[in-house]
Amino acid sequence: MAEASRVALVAGATGVVGEALLKRLSRESGWAGIGLARRKPAQAAAGPFLEADLLDAETLRRSEAALARVTHVFFATRVAAADAETEARVNTVALDNLLDGLDAAGAKLRHVCLVHGTKWYGCHLGPYRIPAEETDPRHPGSNLYFSQHDLVSQRQRGQPWTWSTLRPHTVWGYSAGTCNSLVNTVGAYAALAREAGMALYFPGSETTYRKRSQGITAGLLADAMIWTVSNERCAGQDFNVTNGDTFRWESLWPRVAQLFGMECGAPYPGKLDEIEALAPELWRAMAAKYRLAVGDIDRVANWNYLRGLFGMSWDDWSSSEKLRRHGFTTALDSEDAFLSCLTELGHAGIIPDLP
Ligand SMILES: NC(=O)c1ccc[n+]([C@@H]2O[C@H](COP(=O)([O-])OP(=O)(O)OC[C@H]3O[C@@H](n4cnc5c(N)ncnc54)[C@H](OP(=O)(O)O)[C@@H]3O)[C@@H](O)[C@H]2O)c1
Repeated sequence: MAEASRVALVAGATGVVGEALLKRLSRESGWAGIGLARRKPAQAAAGPFLEADLLDAETLRRSEAALARVTHVFFATRVAAADAETEARVNTVALDNLLDGLDAAGAKLRHVCLVHGTKWYGCHLGPYRIPAEETDPRHPGSNLYFSQHDLVSQRQRGQPWTWSTLRPHTVWGYSAGTCNSLVNTVGAYAALAREAGMALYFPGSETTYRKRSQGITAGLLADAMIWTVSNERCAGQDFNVTNGDTFRWESLWPRVAQLFGMECGAPYPGKLDEIEALAPELWRAMAAKYRLAVGDIDRVANWNYLRGLFGMSWDDWSSSEKLRRHGFTTALDSEDAFLSCLTELGHAGIIPDLP
């Protein structure tokens, strides 16, 4: 087999974004993928995987031979922190350490692509200009994306490599390493409610139910990332990226209920607390009954992630016109895509299989 001309280092390879990208790269001709995270997952995609803590520069030294081959970096690491300032600091150190490690290894870098998100616009802080566009001004206060953006544009000066950033909306995918995903949390919520004999109440407010929402599948995001780094005119650019449309939960939720064969309930935020309370024991029993892949509900669902997302009552969507104008035109119907993601979770044994 011919040697790949582009070697991609996927930092954050066990996350929702990174795992899907690494899988996608393994099917792309001309590309080789190398994963990086602190812990290699039990079922890692084929190919090399570097176990390194990006907050500890020394751990990268062990991987110099692999780092020397890298031509493209996809940075999808997210280091958790208690507040926005700390989050900005540690995530920027992580990126800085990785770029130092690649320099020290003598990598001949061609492109560094950072995965950012709609939080760039402060979507998590309160109402913001809709639809968000890449040229919108920064919000006041710390944001890890601002700090990483400043770092990468400053480090690139005088270098032969280029950079880009992508700003996806909520990413719909599953990873074995983390559970920061709407799809598997909604999937687990519905499966638990069904097992408990309940209707499928929407665990958010009436306003959230009716407002316009957005998302992107992890597979489409992976396609957009590979496309962006392969097109010279995207160098030095930031791009919003979404499925390409908007949707309303009031239209999608009854279809989720139908997929699970459940009666659809009204918006009822308190239902989330109820399901969370019964989840650990009920999920363990369900894991044995349905032979599920993961018996610990905390490794499948992130209730606070869902609580945060469904607690945002303001409009929350961004324009992906800029990416489209640059030539990436693939789009998905969000409602159909969300249902397909849930069906895939069932087939993978993450939740009980769906009819
Ligand atoms: N998930 C979403 O819905 C969403 C939406 C919009 C934007 N984004 C953005 O997309 C990017 C990736 O997010 P994600 O959801 O895929 O993240 P995630 O699921 O939380 O995964 C984070 C990844 O970073 C690795 N990591 C954490 N600390 C590390 C360290 N000290 N050294 C090395 N690796 C470390 C984790 O593996 P280990 O713990 O094993 O190290 C994991 O592979 C972030 O910028 C995020 O803000 C995500």
